[in-house]
Amino acid sequence: MHIRPAYSMEPFASPHYLDPQLQCFLEEASFRLCKWFSKAGTTGPLPAACLLPEIEPLIDGLPAQALLDDLQLIMDGAYQPSHPGALAHLDPPPLTASIVADLICAGLNNNLLAEELSPSLSKLERKICSWFAERLALPKSAGGVAASGGTLSNLMALVVARQSGGFQNDSSSVIFASIDAHVSLAKAVRVMGLREDSLQKIPTNKNGQISLDLLEKRMSSLRDQGRNCFAIVATAGTTVRGAVDPLEELSEFSKKNNIWLHVDGAIGGIFALSKTTASVVQGISNANSITLNPQKLLGIAKTSSLLLVAKSSDLVSTFATGLPYIEPAWGEVHGGELGLQGTRSAEVLKLWLGLRQLGEKGIETLLEGALQRRRYFQGKLDQSKLECLTGPLHLIACTPKDFDNCKAAEWSVMTKKILLNQDFMLSRPIHSGRYYLKVVMGNPHTRNVHLDSLASILNQSVIR
Ligand SMILES: Cc1ncc(COP(=O)(O)O)c(C=O)c1O
Repeated sequence: MHIRPAYSMEPFASPHYLDPQLQCFLEEASFRLCKWFSKAGTTGPLPAACLLPEIEPLIDGLPAQALLDDLQLIMDGAYQPSHPGALAHLDPPPLTASIVADLICAGLNNNLLAEELSPSLSKLERKICSWFAERLALPKSAGGVAASGGTLSNLMALVVARQSGGFQNDSSSVIFASIDAHVSLAKAVRVMGLREDSLQKIPTNKNGQISLDLLEKRMSSLRDQGRNCFAIVATAGTTVRGAVDPLEELSEFSKKNNIWLHVDGAIGGIFALSKTTASVVQGISNANSITLNPQKLLGIAKTSSLLLVAKSSDLVSTFATGLPYIEPAWGEVHGGELGLQGTRSAEVLKLWLGLRQLGEKGIETLLEGALQRRRYFQGKLDQSKLECLTGPLHLIACTPKDFDNCKAAEWSVMTKKILLNQDFMLSRPIHSGRYYLKVVMGNPHTRNVHLDSLASILNQSVIR
């Protein structure tokens, strides 16, 4: 039974007494959220309509009930990651503990910029980064920082790589990555003021992994041109098929050539957390830096990304400027000196609480479950009709075998619509000039019966 909130709520929580009206407001908001989750199974992944409430503030502020009603409209028009057919992207349902931690985080309103603005949370962030570094078998000198998304973690990693190699003033210096590496690398090149051709993309083999032979050749031709390479980016989980570049070989190659190895593990890095799944990212511990996105599979509410570096002092030497308007840190380094962001929220709180909620067993179940669903589904697809792109992770994309690119594009639009009518939401990536339908198995509510229906619709969609 939910409680109707009182109408004369104060806009700020009282610092002197427990405000029953605020309590009602939070309880009613929580009730509405729980109700929203409970309807996920019947509403489908996408809303039927998307109505917005009024945007501008009125002369007088709104009472609690009106605020909640406005919020409800936004909730009703939201994407629903908890629906079992929500399989399009790397956006799983959130862990319940991470929802609560996010609410508490907003209430605490601490600032990871500086220790005096977040005494316990600054410590927590350092401890969580160390725990991840240890789990990924990085050296004792390792550390990290949280960032608002993998794009930012990748950017920071490349800035650190360039600084550590001493190439800050060389706008022609190069980054090597595979053609399937994420678009965030192209953004980083622009932000870093590098030449447009500084991101050199190496073709992949039939498994979607960077070709080591071609990398060697491009490296020696780069030298012939008198240009420098400051980073190799290995992708541990490419965005369309979840391929993992050969991490051990790339680490040897980087060491031999004295080049920074960054692993973009936004998708796959998290598999290193469990013994049963760690082999899919074997060799990740040799990286100089790693991007991890617990938001993409573990169910940590967005945003949640970490940049780990093998030598934590590299973060400080790259980003620390001094904070002349802040008291010195208490023995450690301020969070604002470890990365690009200044003021930032304690995203680490929901990561920490989510991990504690799952426990080792829960983490393993989530990771293993995603891999199992991909394998099961792959086995159900009619491979005489559909060509599949996949890898060792939980992503799989398919396209009709015998169609030309134009017909495959039409098929992808039509089939996506048919699937949405059946409450399955897939994505429609383009890969090597051809459209695919992609399934991401990160949704723990998806059962084999859903995958049976999905595979059957896809198999029947190919009429030659
Ligand atoms: C491999 C890879 N790296 C980086 C990113 C960027 O992460 P974010 O969307 O959190 O910025 C993505 C996003 O999908 C990705 O697939």
